[in-house]
Order: sequence, then structure tokens, then C-alpha cells
Amino acid sequence: MSESKTYPPSHAFASRANVSGMEAYREMYARARHDPGRFWGDLAHSELSWFTQPLKTLEWDPPFAKWFSGGRINACYNCVDRHLTDGRKAKPAILWEGEPAGDQRSITYEELHHLVTRFANALRHLGLRVNDRVIIYMPMIPELAVAMLACARLGIIHSVVFGGFSAEALRARIQDLDARLVITADGGWRRGKEVRLKAAVDEALEGLAHVRNVVVYRRTGSAIDMKNGRDIWWHDAEAAAASTPATTDPCEPAKLDAEHPLYVLYTSGTTGKPKGILHTTAGYLLQTSMSMKWVFDLKEDDIFWCTADIGWVTGHSYIVYGPLCAGATVVMYEGAPDYPAYDRFWSIVEKYRVTIFYTSPTAIRALIRQGNKWPEAHNLSTLRLLGSVGEPINPAAWEWYYKVIGKERCPVVDTWWQTETGAIMIAPIPGAVPQKPGSATLPLPGIFPDVVDARGEPVEDNKEGYLIIHWPWPSMARTIWKDPERFKEQYWSRVPGAYFTGDAARRDSDGYYWILGRVDDVMNVSGHRLSTMEVESALVHHPAVAEAAVVAKPHEITGQAVCAFVTLKKGDYNTEQLREELRQWVAHEIGAFARPEEIRFTEALPKTRSGKIMRRLLREIVTTHSVTGDITTLEDMSVVSALAAQHEED
Ligand code: PRX
Repeated sequence: MSESKTYPPSHAFASRANVSGMEAYREMYARARHDPGRFWGDLAHSELSWFTQPLKTLEWDPPFAKWFSGGRINACYNCVDRHLTDGRKAKPAILWEGEPAGDQRSITYEELHHLVTRFANALRHLGLRVNDRVIIYMPMIPELAVAMLACARLGIIHSVVFGGFSAEALRARIQDLDARLVITADGGWRRGKEVRLKAAVDEALEGLAHVRNVVVYRRTGSAIDMKNGRDIWWHDAEAAAASTPATTDPCEPAKLDAEHPLYVLYTSGTTGKPKGILHTTAGYLLQTSMSMKWVFDLKEDDIFWCTADIGWVTGHSYIVYGPLCAGATVVMYEGAPDYPAYDRFWSIVEKYRVTIFYTSPTAIRALIRQGNKWPEAHNLSTLRLLGSVGEPINPAAWEWYYKVIGKERCPVVDTWWQTETGAIMIAPIPGAVPQKPGSATLPLPGIFPDVVDARGEPVEDNKEGYLIIHWPWPSMARTIWKDPERFKEQYWSRVPGAYFTGDAARRDSDGYYWILGRVDDVMNVSGHRLSTMEVESALVHHPAVAEAAVVAKPHEITGQAVCAFVTLKKGDYNTEQLREELRQWVAHEIGAFARPEEIRFTEALPKTRSGKIMRRLLREIVTTHSVTGDITTLEDMSVVSALAAQHEED
């Protein structure tokens, strides 16, 4: 073992684990390596419920993969219907807690089936058909999962837009997908305030004729505008369907191709335009549900809580599809972790007797800052496993999580994956793989990563390089919506035949992976992905801004924060006022989470002689406060001295 601190699985945990001991992991990994097709094919057969069994496991025409061809399947059937006959009918599927005190619901699999089929009928009644696109812009309430599952039942492609995105961002997604329907709510609760979702939908839809209807769920009860002929209340849409013979229960699940598109989820890339990542049905379901068993060691009586918002991939895979496909009970929480006080998470863990808890390093660091008295005031003894996702977890945060929350009893699984990978790729299988704080440890069976240099050659142990993945895996993104060329170019061209993750990593002498962060212009703020160009193009839309360059700077809590360098058009400005205005402007264009933490006004930006902004220099200035790298291609040296001097004044 290498020098870093290592935590082997305890005997108590390992003896009951789904995968127990390093030998079991090694055997499974070797079996998958020997014949990945057979490995995944056997699991698809035993774990998923098919209408027609697949004929082939994989057709690989790089970079386009087809998994489980010939198979007919339905994601909603696998997540809901099949649990009505496997002994889970009366088992809670969703334990929901709203943000306002006392708001709670418990929904069994049978009740979930009822809710989903009723709403699917409403969608049919509104004229939606297989392959139509639907945007879902909702608060974290059970109906969000119901809407997703109802779409999946009918083969309608959903795209969930995080409720924190602005009307502008929502509009861009609605347009890119050519969506026919938007499902929303009047609002939702966050930190005691109402997030007015329907008002944002109205703004987003101005002039967009292809959206025929908006379905609105009544959550907060506040006054909203309902546009005649376009907008319909959720309950009215259901009632209308129920009184029409063609759309009454039972709403049979569509028998779809294994590769039928399940959803599109937009994520930030290196340009200003977010990419619509497309996931399909069977491979995605298989790998998300397998990771529930392997990484989260799921047992029948577990209560699983992933604190992410369903608007991000973590919520898709680990609140909805993975756990429900595996027949788990999930906790779903609507609001903020610090409302009404810093112990909201711990009070939910205690109240619902959560056994597996999955959150982000940002949340952990924010809670550490508030002190141990908050978790110590609660009974957390039901917890048996802790997870982390979204960004590198620093060893100090890992240790706190392990000691103060897990009482040195619960393994911590640091899970590395991406929107594009669909499911967890590198993480310790907790009953088998010893953990090292700060490392995502070893790849899951069937996943073959490597660390390579710029020419695609493997680098030595402990050397930094690019993280790539050889060979396709079932839950991988199939393409970028309407842009297969970009898919090929962004992910499959840097190292021929391999998937380029965009992350830097090193592998230690035990084969453990240490993820070091992005190598491209993608920032990671509180575990949320954001492109520097997206923020730049928002800034240059402002009438006062001439040019903008955005870089990430290290931040104690959120991992990274947005720092913008801005040059202004000629004019007289109150810079303090303008700084605040620009921050609000970015929030309006993208969403509050993208608001720059810092805006620096400057006379000029450092550029190469060919006119490209040297972001690398700006990154150095905000991280190390000086410039040491090569600046021979810089056009005007004085810019750098001015920027460095500006820092000293700050
Ligand atoms: O840089 C990596 C970081 O988050 C990126 C993926 O972001 P997104 O697609 O939004 O998905 C987030 C949730 C899966 C990765 O390229 N990242 C994610 N998990 C980890 C991580 N970095 C270090 N350690 C992790 N466990």
C-alpha cells in the first residue's frame, strides 16, 4: 500500500456486504475484463425485466454504441410495475419531506404506480406520443419523479431543467429540443422563499409556438397567470383523461427498443452552448441499478437518501432510476440544507432512519463550518454507509464525514462519474476495497480507465495525466442531441478509440485513482458544472461590457468560484454598482449558482499575438497571485503586470 492513510472495510460491514472482500472484487473485475460483453449480457438478463430478451449485447461502431439490441423493455415498468409482484407493493418507494415544517408524504410502490399511470394517461390525452420531447421544470416534489416515469412509460423523451436555471437558460433548452410540452409547478420552496417557476416558464415561452401546452402542478398555491388554451392544471389534465374512454387506466407501458432515448440532460461543455447529453434505456438502467448494489451495498430494508436535485444527473441516476429500478426506498427533500437551521439534513436522517446518505463535498464543507453541535444533537445511528459525489473531496472533509457523521463505523464511498457516464465509474465497493481519503479508489467491474499523456500514452504511476476510459460501457451517453459530430469530436477524438473525460488524474502504486479536476474550460462550483464561456457570453451581452474572461478560483467551501475579468466600453460608470449589476445579470442569464463571486475590471485582457485570451495566465493570477509560466506568446506584457498589481491592491 502507498503512503496515504488507508481504511480497510470493517469486519462488521464486510461480513454482510453484497461484495465482500478484495478477492470477490478482483474476481468480478477480471471476469468483466476477460469478456465485457458476456459480463454485462448476463447481468442484463438477470437484473432487468424484458418484454423481449436482447439478441446481442453490444454493437460498437466507435464512438456509437448499441447495447442489448433486439431487446424490448420499459424503464417505468422496471422502476415501478415489476415491484408490484416482487413483494414490494406495500413498500415505500418515496419518503418525501417538503421544506415547510410538517410537509411530508410517504408513497408506496403501489401508490407510485397509480400516480404514474394516471399522469401518463393525462399525457396521452394531451396528444403526446412516443419520441415527443417534454421539458420538466419542477421543484423537488414527488410529481417530478412521477412526470419522468410517466414519460418513460410512453417512450416520451424528457429533459429535466434544474429549477435554479433562469428563464433564459430554460428557453434555450426548450428550443434546442423542440419540446411540445412543459411540465412545471406554480412554485417551490427554498430557504423559506417561493421560487416562482411558472412565471419563469411564461417568460421562457414568449414567442415559442412549438410548445402547445404547459401542465402546472399546484404546490405553493400562489397566484399565477394561466394562459387560455395553453396552460392546464395537472389535476384538470388527469381528470380530463379519466373521463375519456381512450385514456383511462390501465395505461400499458410501451414495449420500447433497448436503445430507445430515455432522456436528454443539458450540461456545460467548453463552449458557450450547453450540450444535450442523450441517455437511452436498458444500458442506463442496468448500470445505475448495479451501482446501487455494488457501491451502495443496497439491502431490502435500506433507506437511501441522495441529497442532489433531480435537475442534475446525480438526481436522475440516484433518486429516480437507479434506486427505483433496484426496488429501494428513497428519501426526497425539497429544500435547502440549512433551513430553518443547520441541522436540517441530520433531522431528516434521524426522522426517516436513513441508512445510506449521499451528498456533495460542498455540502459537507459548509456543514463543517457550522460546528459539530448540529449533527451531535441528532441520533444518526441508523447510518451505515456514506457517499460523496460531484467534485474532489479533500481529505480533511472526508475525515470529518467519516468521524463526526459516520462515527468511524460507516465506509465513505467517494464516487467519480459524470453526466456523460450516466452511472458511477470509479468508487470503492465498500465491503471489499479499502478507502483512502481523497481518492475515488478503483474502477467498478466492466470499467477500464487509464491515465495518459497528450499523445495518449499511459503515464507512470503517480504522474499526472488525462483520465480516459477504454471500451464502451452500458450507461454511456449515446450522443449529443442533434450534434453527433460534436460528440465524436469532444469525447472520442483526443485519444483514438477511448473516451476522453476532460479530467486530470493520477494513479498511485496501488492502482488507486486520484481525480485532480478539469483540464478544460469547465468549472465546478459546488459540484455544479459550468463553462467559462457560458458566463463570458452572458457578460458580454451586457451593454457596458466590451470583453470578459472567466476563470475558476479556488474556494474553501464551494471548491471553485467564478472569477470574471471584465473590460468596459467607453463611458462613465459607478464600478461598485456595475459590479453588482453584472452579478445579477449573470444570474438572470444562466441562474443564481453561476453568479460570479468576484468581478475585476481591467483595462485590457492578456492575449496572444493571434488574439486569443490567455486564460491560463488569469488562472495563475487568481490561484497563485503571480505568473510563472511561459508568456512568450503574450502580445502586451504590461497587461499582466497591471493585473498582478491589481491583486496586490485588493
Ligand atoms: O470533474 C469531475 C467532477 O465532476 C465532473 C462531472 O460533472 P457532472 O457531469 O456535473 O456530474 C457530476 C455528478 C456525477 C467530473 O468531470 N467530479 C464528479 N465526481 C467527482 C468529481 N471529481 C472528483 N471526485 C469525484 N468523486
